[in-house]
This record gives sequence, structure tokens and C-alpha cells, in this order.
Amino acid sequence: MKAACTLEETRRVLLFVAARMIASQDVLSEADRQIGDGDHGVGMGRGFEAVQTRLLQAAPASLEDLFKTTGMALLTSIGGASGAIFGTWFRSGAKGLAGAEQLDAGGLAAFLREGLAGVQERGKAQEGGKTMVDSLAPAARAAAERQSEGLEAALAAAAQAAEDGMQRTEGMLAAVGRAKTLGERALGHPDPGAISTALILRSMFQAVAQMDG
Ligand SMILES: Nc1ncnc2c1ncn2[C@@H]1O[C@H](COP(=O)(O)OP(=O)(O)OP(=O)(O)O)[C@@H](O)[C@H]1O
Ligand SMILES: [Mg+2]
Repeated sequence: MKAACTLEETRRVLLFVAARMIASQDVLSEADRQIGDGDHGVGMGRGFEAVQTRLLQAAPASLEDLFKTTGMALLTSIGGASGAIFGTWFRSGAKGLAGAEQLDAGGLAAFLREGLAGVQERGKAQEGGKTMVDSLAPAARAAAERQSEGLEAALAAAAQAAEDGMQRTEGMLAAVGRAKTLGERALGHPDPGAISTALILRSMFQAVAQMDG
């Protein structure tokens, strides 16, 4: 089990996440067609293509810079509600990594804690509102609980919690966004942003799990 990632390894983790999100565009847009306007995958695809370009262009100076750059790329390329939300996750989350030289379980927990705080400050969604917060919040709690076990174990727990949270959104009515106007027709469909959140964390785990050390 890998305990921590260097800056360069973490850059590779985020590039793996970007490739996975780009490949998942159709699934994400199909999910958004059920309860939104069907553009979630297009937005995420565009966002993570921008992340890919930025991370391949220049080597980031620090972990904080790496996550901030990722957030800025998402924010400026996706646009709309989810650009602000996913960009803020990474930009605010970067604050939790200030001064860190390696991404370890404590850093992961801080990234998720600060990211969640930023997302909730920006979007005002609470848990139970059928948004990505229903996936990110349990992931943040799971990572905080597993801080002593190393990065790979903490990421495994966070990804599992994010997926469980995403599945629970199927049974929720939406409190914000377009799905709100759907009322009970939103029942039975998971929130697209929660699917993206679970995918991001699952692919972070997979990238770390296949690294040596
Ligand atoms: N205020 C918010 N707080 C947290 N997450 C939000 C908020 N608003 C939207 N989201 C997330 O963004 C996702 C929608 O992303 P999408 O890319 O489809 O944006 P959109 O098209 O602007 O929104 P919609 O499809 O709901 O009209 C939702 O599934 C939800 O998880
Ligand atoms: Mg949409």
C-alpha cells in the first residue's frame, strides 16, 4: 500500500483522472439527460482536456500549485454551475496542501475538507440536496477517519464513501439546480455531479494503487 505520492507522482495521478473523465463524457451526459439539460459530460470533458493541457505544459512548483492550476483550468473552461463547483473543489482544496511536499493521507483529508468547505460556501448546497456535495462530504469524512493508514488506504475509503453517497442521491429530491423543477421525476436517478465526484476519487485511487512503493 502506497503511503504517499511525490509532486511528480501526484501530477501523474491528476493526468490519469483527466484521461478517465474525458473517456466518461458520454456516461455523464446521459446521466444529466435524465435529470438536467444533458451537458454535464461535455462540460467535464472540456474541463479535463484543459487540465491535461495545463499539466503537460508546465511542471507545477508545488502540490498547492498543482491543485490550484487544476482548479483554475476547470473553472475557466467548463463555465456554468459545475465549472464554479468543480473548479472551487480543487482551488479551495489546494489550500489544504499549502507547504506539503508529498501527498499523504493527511494531505488528502485536508484537500477534501477545504474543497468541501469552498464548494459549500460557493454553492450553498447541504447534504441531502442531491448534488456532488452528497458524494464529496462522505468522502471527506472517510479520508479524515483513515488519516493514519496512508494515502492508498485513505483514498480507497474516500472513493467507496463517494460511490455510496452518489448512490444515495438516487433517492433524493433536488434542492438546487435544474433537477429541482423535476420534483419526483428526479427520484431513481443519481445526480450527475455526484457521479463525477465518485469517478474522480475512484480514478485517483486506481492511479495510486498501480504505482510502485
Ligand atoms: N449549488 C451547487 N452545489 C453543489 N453542486 C452543484 C450545485 N449546482 C450544481 N451542482 C452540481 O453540478 C451538476 C450539474 O452540472 P452541469 O455540468 O450539468 O451544470 P449545469 O448544466 O449548469 O447544471 P444543470 O444540468 O443542473 O442545469 C449537478 O449534478 C450538481 O452535482
Ligand atoms: Mg447540465
